[in-house]
Amino acid sequence: MADAPADRGERADWVRHAIEGLHEEYGALADGQPADYIPELANVDPDAFAISAATTDGRRIGVGDGDRPFTIQSISKLLMYGLALETHGRDHVMSRVGVAPTGDRFNAIVLDEDDNRAPNPMVNAGAIAVTDLVPGTDIGARVDVVRSLYERYLGRRPELDTDVWASERATGNRNRAIAYLMLSRGIIEDRVEETLDLYFAQCSVLVTCDDLALIGATLANHGVHPVTGEQVVASDVVRDMLSVALTCGMYDYAGEWVFTVGIPAKSGVGGGILGVLPGLGGLATFSPRLDEYGNSVRGVRVFEELSARFTLHLFDPERPWLRQTPAPA
Ligand code: DON
Repeated sequence: MADAPADRGERADWVRHAIEGLHEEYGALADGQPADYIPELANVDPDAFAISAATTDGRRIGVGDGDRPFTIQSISKLLMYGLALETHGRDHVMSRVGVAPTGDRFNAIVLDEDDNRAPNPMVNAGAIAVTDLVPGTDIGARVDVVRSLYERYLGRRPELDTDVWASERATGNRNRAIAYLMLSRGIIEDRVEETLDLYFAQCSVLVTCDDLALIGATLANHGVHPVTGEQVVASDVVRDMLSVALTCGMYDYAGEWVFTVGIPAKSGVGGGILGVLPGLGGLATFSPRLDEYGNSVRGVRVFEELSARFTLHLFDPERPWLRQTPAPA
């Protein structure tokens, strides 16, 4: 990495310049296709593209379609996991959902057989088990809990894409199979259709790439929102959220991701990727063309480049606090 300018303003220009260059370079990359297994998701502009960053002190840099809404999809799994931990505590959540990466597809029909729980909260089984833990007497009350959670992160009450929600409900039979399997094992409660509907709702929440960067900055800031100053989520919960994001957040690409990018992150089939740079800020991309894992093609490339250029890998030896110290004489 070239040495960073010492002056804060010059540093911001330096990062903006890099992001603009990457936006131009990868805007020409047309590999991959938007998700269409949920029919309504295919109705996006495949060439929409945004890169956004937000720092823990609230500064923002964005290039491209940063204010274009899209459905958050599986990125919701990360926020919902935090909600479950805060509401029920670690032991209870761990009794339903583990933290082991699976190496399987995100929608695999697979459980942690030894401990009779879902493998981790970032795959569908674990996410549905987490959604089951949302309190409330009916679907309306539970959707309200979820929207309030998003509201704290976004600083506004979010809209749902009701067409995507309906489309997921109409076609989500694989998720139904996973949920009924978990019901048969006593992992989730006997209100399966309602919990599935809530899971589809949480995936259908509309966000922008700029929003995702700000969510990332909140998590990077120990759960304190950089703009509102609100403690959105407790700092020990953030630690757990980022741990599973690092090991499981990019589906069955998670191992390669940690190896090459080394940033806790979560992707969604709507085309978003949310990355967290602890102590620094949030980084997000939006581009709906997906690779075979369900990750945004351009997004993965942009994260790879930015990680390398700015030594963002958590274990990069160039990071000041990781620099080798001389052995004592
Ligand atoms: O379960 C589904 O198919 C979606 N609503 C969530 C999709 C997603 O982003 C894939 N993720 N792991």
